[in-house]
Amino acid sequence: MSDWMKIAGIRSSEITDEAVFKKRRQLIQASVAAGLTGMIASDAIADGHALKKPIAKSPFSTDEELTSEKTATTYNNFYELGTDKSDPSRHAQRLKTEPWSVVIDGECDNPGTFTLEDILKPHAIEERIYRLRCVEAWSMVIPWNGFALGDLLTRFKPNSKAKYVAFETLQDNDLPGMQTRALDWPYREGLRIDEAMHPLTMMAIGMYGNTIPNQNGAPMRLVVPWKYGYKSIKSIVRISFVEKQPPTSWNMAAPHEYGFYSNVNPEVSHPRWSQAKERRLSGETSGLAALFSSKVETNFMNGYDEEVASLYSEMDLKKFF
Ligand code: MTE
Repeated sequence: MSDWMKIAGIRSSEITDEAVFKKRRQLIQASVAAGLTGMIASDAIADGHALKKPIAKSPFSTDEELTSEKTATTYNNFYELGTDKSDPSRHAQRLKTEPWSVVIDGECDNPGTFTLEDILKPHAIEERIYRLRCVEAWSMVIPWNGFALGDLLTRFKPNSKAKYVAFETLQDNDLPGMQTRALDWPYREGLRIDEAMHPLTMMAIGMYGNTIPNQNGAPMRLVVPWKYGYKSIKSIVRISFVEKQPPTSWNMAAPHEYGFYSNVNPEVSHPRWSQAKERRLSGETSGLAALFSSKVETNFMNGYDEEVASLYSEMDLKKFF
């Protein structure tokens, strides 16, 4: 089935019930409050909805038209919940996010197993409006709520052998997609340490001022805006500091199609399609309407090249795609 036929199959009624997230939201509110200055924190509490008020707007934000929240939460890739774009929101409740803990291990001085609260507590939450460009040649503009991944990583004191950071998603055989061999589970991703520490790289816990829905990677996921969307791993349970380049799910599945770096690059075609243009899913684009959404030129590094091109100045990006 073509991508665009799949879009036409989107349902509108499958957004996960807010109640499912209520407990999670309370936890995140407490964490947000604990990590912020008095005025901002009390403001957020008074509002009763910490993530409704993203406190600071990141200077990295784009002012392009937003993708609607409905589109961003119903047209998803989250293979653990199924391979169809509508599967993740339909099966969202099957992802159990409580309790949640994250293992931090490998080349660092402060490894351990941490609760979600431990992980989030010190971090002030900001809003970053980022473009996310999927390798399938569509893109969205989403207001993410979260903080710089580097601020989290430095807390664990990576040592000089930590050249890469590896990430893993929750593995739960009850999830419908995990009963298939769509990918070699768990979903794995990796970044070079300087990419992981770059201020643009974000750990997201919310979007559109709301706790991040399960289908978008609750309770925390990466957003690496200059790379194809598959680098932005969802529902993270393990972060490992490693010396060697770690294996990554899509690279293992099809090494000629998906490299480790996966930087958005209109000049390096995917073997089966061009990456020169993308379909921007903006505004209330969903279902059939997505078929007619405008095509725009894809920018080198998804338009973030001024910030990140220096990370790759010595590299042949056709070879290291
Ligand atoms: N993370 C996990 N664990 N499993 C996945 O299948 N899909 C990736 C990425 N992270 C995926 C994942 C892909 S291909 C994309 S394009 C983005 O998530 C989509 O994020 P979104 O659904 O929030 O737009």
